[in-house]
Amino acid sequence: MQKLQSTIEDIKKHPLTNAYIKGSDKSLDVLGYTEHGIRHATIVSQNASKIISKLGYDSRLVELAEIAGYLHDIGNVVNRKGHSISGALLAVEILKDLKFPENEIASIIRAIGNHDEEEGGEPVSNIAAAIILADKADIHRSRVRNSNMITFDIHDRVNYAATYSSVDADADSKIIFLNLTIDTQVSQIMEYFEIFLSRMMICRKAAVFLNCKFEILVNDIRLL
Ligand SMILES: [Fe+2]
Ligand SMILES: [Fe+2]
Repeated sequence: MQKLQSTIEDIKKHPLTNAYIKGSDKSLDVLGYTEHGIRHATIVSQNASKIISKLGYDSRLVELAEIAGYLHDIGNVVNRKGHSISGALLAVEILKDLKFPENEIASIIRAIGNHDEEEGGEPVSNIAAAIILADKADIHRSRVRNSNMITFDIHDRVNYAATYSSVDADADSKIIFLNLTIDTQVSQIMEYFEIFLSRMMICRKAAVFLNCKFEILVNDIRLL
């Protein structure tokens, strides 16, 4: 009997996946970054697969986007610098162990290796584009670890101010939209743009790769 295709559940159950995500989050905690653990992996995974699915791609591509999203930040277990590339290489071992076919391994690692624009990442494939959008959309209060607001840096402030964030796609109008609710008592919308401008540029590029326009709604006001 032919073996069934490996799934996101197999990835989540693999001991290396868990160890790498938890190790990444521990290092980034030491370095003062926001939460990058199972929560972030799950949200990026769900949002990337939602984008691919809503745009009408086939179910296996949806599954591969879900997998790439879940694994996208595991390279932080090695070092923050170059984490997209180290993450792609670490993912190979897990994917080979789970008997993924070579072409699927290639699709997944292209996306992981291209998810970070500061490390030269570009939307080089549909999955890569979806991961970029899903990753950048995960801005939320719950990611801030620093409990002392007085010592918040701009990243803490902007994340803490976001009480709601979601990303969605509409196949008919060909629009991918980011919807945010920002508590302006914590951070002004301008401050949000100050640190997110480069991220929004890569989001727009990723949306264009998926033949869509990119829109941002902040507090129900369309900003882009
Ligand atoms: Fe990353
Ligand atoms: Fe990420």
